[in-house]
This record gives sequence, structure tokens and C-alpha cells, in this order.
Amino acid sequence: MRADDPRPTPPAAPEACAHGGAFFEALGEEFDDLGRRGGIVNADVLDAWFDPAPGVVAALHEHLPWLLRTSPPTRSEGLVRVIARARGVREANVLAAGGSSELIFLALPRFVARGAKALLLDPTYGEYAHLLGKVIGARVERFPLARAAGWRPDPDALAAAVRASRPELLVVVNPNSPTGVHLPRAGLEAVLAALPAGSKAWVDETYVEYAGPGASLEAFAAASDRVVVVKSMSKVYALSGVRAAYAVGPRALLDPLRAFVPPWAVGLLAQVAAVRALEDPAWYAARWAETHALRARLAGDLRALGLDVVEGCTNFLLAHLPPSGPTAAALVARCAAGGVYLRDCGDLGATMGDRTVRTAVKDAAANARIVAAIAAALRAGP
Ligand SMILES: Cc1ncc(COP(=O)(O)O)c(C=O)c1O
Repeated sequence: MRADDPRPTPPAAPEACAHGGAFFEALGEEFDDLGRRGGIVNADVLDAWFDPAPGVVAALHEHLPWLLRTSPPTRSEGLVRVIARARGVREANVLAAGGSSELIFLALPRFVARGAKALLLDPTYGEYAHLLGKVIGARVERFPLARAAGWRPDPDALAAAVRASRPELLVVVNPNSPTGVHLPRAGLEAVLAALPAGSKAWVDETYVEYAGPGASLEAFAAASDRVVVVKSMSKVYALSGVRAAYAVGPRALLDPLRAFVPPWAVGLLAQVAAVRALEDPAWYAARWAETHALRARLAGDLRALGLDVVEGCTNFLLAHLPPSGPTAAALVARCAAGGVYLRDCGDLGATMGDRTVRTAVKDAAANARIVAAIAAALRAGP
């Protein structure tokens, strides 16, 4: 930029939001030996423990070289049609993208101005406070959740906070991360009814399938004038690697975003995988049920070690470490040294403290490794 350039100097880029994924350091970030993946448990990210539906894997296997070298449908037209059919909404109310992260970064800067108010749960998925506060420069207010209440949002109190705060944007991750706690839809709809005219709500349903059938607000959002539901297909459809997601909402909110979605935003592998996945609801329902059983067993084993495991419904769980033992940072480092990657949740909200960890629910063998690693880390003392 020249010295007399009239354009304002862009703000320095804030540091990126912290995430799980440290296991790639052990695996090799240039993927030179992907076979090493068998030696690690990547429970610091919340990817599915199960494979995508057989129809997904078969389609990709059969046509892989062609899928790799072929331009996808420009605007994911077929995928959007399949999503609309599966969810009982109109195509005009669906916007597809390469992951919900892309939708979050596409929409929120256009929904919220610098200096405007945004209301978030505390704790919640870290990317929201990062993008809204540090990148956009919005005034971020937090609605504190309490350990004593099992991290459950009280819908009446949240509705009262919405009325008092009058945020330009309300973000609700439901079920919430890192807590795994679901706010039933009647409660959330009452909260959304408290939004003043002109405000918007962004409901992140990355894990909602784990709350059971009928829990999603997709159709509600499509019929609303101010609610957008964002649906990642990463975790519940086991598609994290290909990047597929969609938003459902009123045309008045989605149409202005469409112009900013580049052509071919969703790769062909992702479009094919997502369409085939949506065709096999029974296969996924069986995996989600298995996940609940695996979660119950893992929670029981961790409780037997003295951890306070939060009641929740998701493919991950939040646990508070005993006050006398190691901090979450120390425990996570000890587990990682043995190839078991967990998430220290200290940075996910002011209320988390230094003894809270989150683990993904994996298959039975990996869960046993998680339990053994935590047991050893606790035995090593503070
Ligand atoms: C609550 C929540 N929202 C959004 C995302 C982003 O998911 P993706 O970009 O893979 O769709 C994640 C990923 O962990 C998440 O936990």
C-alpha cells in the first residue's frame, strides 16, 4: 500500500483460535507416514469414531481418480436438493459450503458490524468469541453457564438476558461444546422468541443428531425471519476430512451471502460423499446409538477414576479433574506423550478453570486407551 493510499490500514491479524489437532504433529504434518495413525488416539478433535456409510466409501473408492480431477457442480445444486428433501425445507432456504467453519466466517462478518453487540454462552465453541470479538471487533457479551447446574442453560434466564442485552446477534451452540449439554427445542424456541426485531440468531447444530430425532430447528429457521441454523456434516456423518456443511434459514438472511460464496466451494469428493451419506439415515442412526453406549461406558470408567463427568448426549464428554491432582494442562501433556490427545478446556470460557478436560468418544479399544492414559497421568501426581 502506498503512503498516500486513502484506504484505512487493515488491523493486524489476530492470532488464530486454538483448536485440537495437535496429533498431526505426531503423525507428520506432511503426511509422510499416515500408517502411524494407528498408534495415536486423536480425542482432542471431535471427529466420528466410525466410518462414513458404506455407500459413501463405495462411491469414492469406485470413482476416486475421476472425482479428484473433475470440477464439481458449481453451486452444489444436487447436494442442496438432497438436503432440502431430507430436511423438509425448500432449496431456497439452504446454503451449502465446505464446512460450517466456512459458513461461520462467511456469515458473521456480514451479520454483525464492528462495535455491535453479540451474545454467546460461556463456555462455548471458541471460534465464535474469536471471530466476533477479535476479528470483527464486535462487543461480545457472555451468558455464564454454571458447573453447579450441570452446565445446563436455563432458558428463562437466557431469554431474560436476550431481552435485557438486545444483541444484534445471539449465538447458541446446541448441544453446546465443550459441555455436551443439549437445550431441548421448546426452551430454545422460547429464547429465540425473546429476540427483539432486527436481531438475528445463529444456532450451531453440529452435534444435534446426538440429541435424538426431531431436535433440530432447521424447519423452524427456514420459516423464521431471523434464525439461521448451521449444520456441519463433519462429526455426525463422519465427513470431517472432505469438508461439507450447510445453513438453513430465511432467504432474507441467506440470499445476501450467496454472492460471496465462490464457485466450486464444496469439493466433488465432499458433494458426492454428503449426498450418499444423506441417503443412508438408518446406518447413521445405528452408529449414533452405539456412540451413546460407548459414551456411557467411558463416562463410567472416568468416574471410577474420580473424574466428575458432565451429563450430556454428544460424541464427546467434559470432565472435571479431582482438585488435588494434576491440572488439565499437565494431564493433557502426559497423555499426549503416550499418543493420547485430549483437550484442555481452560481457554473455552471464563468459567472453565484449570482442571477441565474434554475427550471425544471413540471406539471401545481407543476409549480403553484414553482411560488408561488418564489413570497413569493421575497416578503421576500433581
Ligand atoms: C460447535 C462447532 N461448530 C462448528 C465446528 C466446525 O466444524 P466444520 O467446519 O468441520 O463443519 C465445530 C468443530 O469442531 C464445532 O465443534
